[in-house]
Amino acid sequence: MTFKKTILCIGAGYVGGPTMALIAYKCPQYKVTVVDIDPKRIAKWNSDNLPIYEPGLDEIVKATRDRNLFFSTEIEREIKESDIIFVSVNTPTKMFGAGSGMAADLQYWEKTARQIRKYAESHKIIVEKSTLPVKTALAMERILSSAENDIHFEVLSNPEFLAEGTAIKDLEDPDRVLIGSRETPSGLKARDELVEIYANWVPRERIITSNVWSSELSKLVANAFLAQRISSINSITALCEKTDANIMEVARAVGMDSRVGSKFLNASVGFGGSCFKKDILNLVYLCRHYGLDEVADYWEGVVRINDYQKERFILNMLSAMFNTLAGKKICLFGFSYKANTGDTRESPAIFIARRLIEEKAELVITDPKALNNAMIDLNGVDGKISYVEDPYKASANCDAIAVMTEWEIYANLDFEKIYKSMAKPAFIFDGRNILDHKRLYEIGFNVFPIGKPALTHF
Ligand SMILES: NC(=O)c1ccc[n+]([C@@H]2O[C@H](COP(=O)([O-])OP(=O)(O)OC[C@H]3O[C@@H](n4cnc5c(N)ncnc54)[C@H](O)[C@@H]3O)[C@@H](O)[C@H]2O)c1
Repeated sequence: MTFKKTILCIGAGYVGGPTMALIAYKCPQYKVTVVDIDPKRIAKWNSDNLPIYEPGLDEIVKATRDRNLFFSTEIEREIKESDIIFVSVNTPTKMFGAGSGMAADLQYWEKTARQIRKYAESHKIIVEKSTLPVKTALAMERILSSAENDIHFEVLSNPEFLAEGTAIKDLEDPDRVLIGSRETPSGLKARDELVEIYANWVPRERIITSNVWSSELSKLVANAFLAQRISSINSITALCEKTDANIMEVARAVGMDSRVGSKFLNASVGFGGSCFKKDILNLVYLCRHYGLDEVADYWEGVVRINDYQKERFILNMLSAMFNTLAGKKICLFGFSYKANTGDTRESPAIFIARRLIEEKAELVITDPKALNNAMIDLNGVDGKISYVEDPYKASANCDAIAVMTEWEIYANLDFEKIYKSMAKPAFIFDGRNILDHKRLYEIGFNVFPIGKPALTHF
């Protein structure tokens, strides 16, 4: 079969894999290949056991793989054969040298720019899919144009707004697709080519365009705003707990104002995931770089409140359980940073688990999709930790359950059965406010929600 164009994506991760699978699914006229430096990851993408879990992803990969979707490690060949290259490599927080702990680590991204320059033999459109500091496209252009040939690379910014756990739904029906380009004839032409791909399934009015720098910055700001909402509501949970107000009632009343809106107002043990913290810190770093310390301080507060919320959760557990957790057996319900994903990057559960071990508690961790990642995250932690998939078996003989992830299954468990199997007094700390607290109290549990009065039998 001959294809209209050949698309390559460098980076077969949580973004590159699902995004390209969906483009291949919606655009059978394009050949889509995803490459990665990690051969194990590519082997998994080519197997029945995909490297990431996302509802609906298996079906889409099955329908497209080896038809117009391919996973490969042949980076050199695929760069040569492609017309459009998406770069979707990881851009974690830099942990060394200048900007350590704040700036984006651009080493993976820069390596791909150099690979593209080295192997490309024809003009190409380069699409930044990774989340990058504003002005990164300029550096990309400079690296690409330093080759001694007349190949033209047009760099576009097309940040990804999908959320893990709903990636396929978000990709199929996005709120918006943002494409940033240079306002030159070649920039606008490249932009139109990318618009044409998305227009296969996204309504035109939701495909918005801007200059490159606005596009790069919009992604950082979008994540900062989302995280800010979580920190805003979480900051109020502490006040609710002091005053017997109920955060769920407060959030409902506040969110019904259409200027505020009701989404992202769920109180919790804190936000996690690979993006929010790193993108805010990146924004903070950029602001400081430009001498905007007040702006930097403002956004840094979002991360500070998140850290405070996680520590507060531990201190609440300690105070509720008679100021000692030593030797107590605590079951973590969930380890992924949110429901419907196995991803545990920056999951609050990692912090909570480590802190509980510091307090000399014994841990049993259960999660439907994230136990392998949990074992990797806690590898080397010096303490008693076991991993049990069945939540009934996991919680048996435990002193307390701490809900870390809002998996739907946890709300529907037989808590009478669980209560009977636990040590007494039995405690539940609901870090996601997903359980029926009154009912749990009636069963016999001492219940500690977030930002709501505790229900205790003493
Ligand atoms: N995960 C999310 O929910 C999400 C959402 C929106 C945007 N983003 C952004 O998208 C980017 C990718 O995130 P992710 O979660 O998919 O990361 P990831 O770590 O899951 O995947 C990145 C992949 O790139 C590969 N890679 C690194 N250098 C390479 C190279 N030189 N050649 C080929 N492959 C290379 C890695 O091996 C890895 O498999 C990041 O910038 C992130 O901030 C992520």
